Amino acid sequence: MRVLTGIQPSGDLHIGNYFGSIKQMVDAQKENDTFAFIANYHAMSSGNGGERLAELTMQTATDFLALGIDPEKSTFWVQSDVKEVLELYWVLSAFTPMGLLERAHSYKDKVAKGISANHSLFSYPVLMAADILLYSPDIIPVGKDQIQHVEIARDIAIKFNNEYGEVFKLPEFKIEEDVATVPGTDGQKMSKSYKNTVNIFGEEKKQLKTIKKIVTEQIALEAPKEYENCNVYNMAKLFLNENECQELQERYKRGGEGHGHFKLYLHDVIWEYFAPYREKREYYKMHQDEVRDILKTGANKARTVTSPLIEQIRSLTGINY
Ligand code: ADP
Ligand code: TRP
Repeated sequence: MRVLTGIQPSGDLHIGNYFGSIKQMVDAQKENDTFAFIANYHAMSSGNGGERLAELTMQTATDFLALGIDPEKSTFWVQSDVKEVLELYWVLSAFTPMGLLERAHSYKDKVAKGISANHSLFSYPVLMAADILLYSPDIIPVGKDQIQHVEIARDIAIKFNNEYGEVFKLPEFKIEEDVATVPGTDGQKMSKSYKNTVNIFGEEKKQLKTIKKIVTEQIALEAPKEYENCNVYNMAKLFLNENECQELQERYKRGGEGHGHFKLYLHDVIWEYFAPYREKREYYKMHQDEVRDILKTGANKARTVTSPLIEQIRSLTGINY
């Protein structure tokens, strides 16, 4: 089965990205033909500027490799190293009704928040459809916020196929129910736009400071506590096995410990979980040329898939004359 994902190099990676996307990809490598890319064209709409985008592209690639994307098992590249995606983006634009994009949540939400929209924000789902359809994947593992984008990709593919035959494979999204939405420090969805993230590779002191800020109910130390709706528990359970979860639940129910104790525990759990990844990250940070080589090799591998498809599309659409 071919599994594909893209991640924007638009900031430091957080544990929402990890459980919602990266870990699923790493796990998928065992049994699937996995395709993972750094969506640097997409990240242009986040307005970080050129220098920062280049830096974040390398940082994100480094972090992905550290977190377990294995270039031997996966095809791993930077979106802009396979320029055919922009050609397909234009072709697909001709099969994208305006209404389909006007209904996109990501665009509507940003406009509602007063972010002035430019065309790249509006047409973002078409580029994402090109990312997906160019590689004929079976499955796209996503967080809930990206479901609509995969559906838009399907709709566009269907329109194209209606005119030219079964050219594009229709992709399916996959949500890991347990981690569908990782909560942030304020209990909302964790997202860098909400400034409520716990980063994967932050400094230890900073991580502790962030975790101490997690919003919890005000309740006496001795009192038994609710764990179900506790932001600390809900974050911790992502890292714990069943027994560890139960032990933590018991500590909540028993009383005698405050949320401060649970926060310290959560900090330790997260810090320990990412320890081996931090080590690997240090290695890749010292060997950035190796990271670049991996990405270029990945792009060449990706192109072996795109070339025949793009040729077929050029012929069908009359671009080859
Ligand atoms: P952010 O919201 O911080 O800008 P992105 O939009 O760059 O994050 O998300 C990158 C990937 O991580 C996407 O696949 C997205 O669905 C997933 N993701 C982001 N935040 C979460 C979250 N809180 N819970 C689950 N998955 C998430
Ligand atoms: N839009 C995705 C996000 O913000 C990133 C992305 C771009 C993507 N192209 C993709 C994800 C293709 C999956 C498949 O998270």
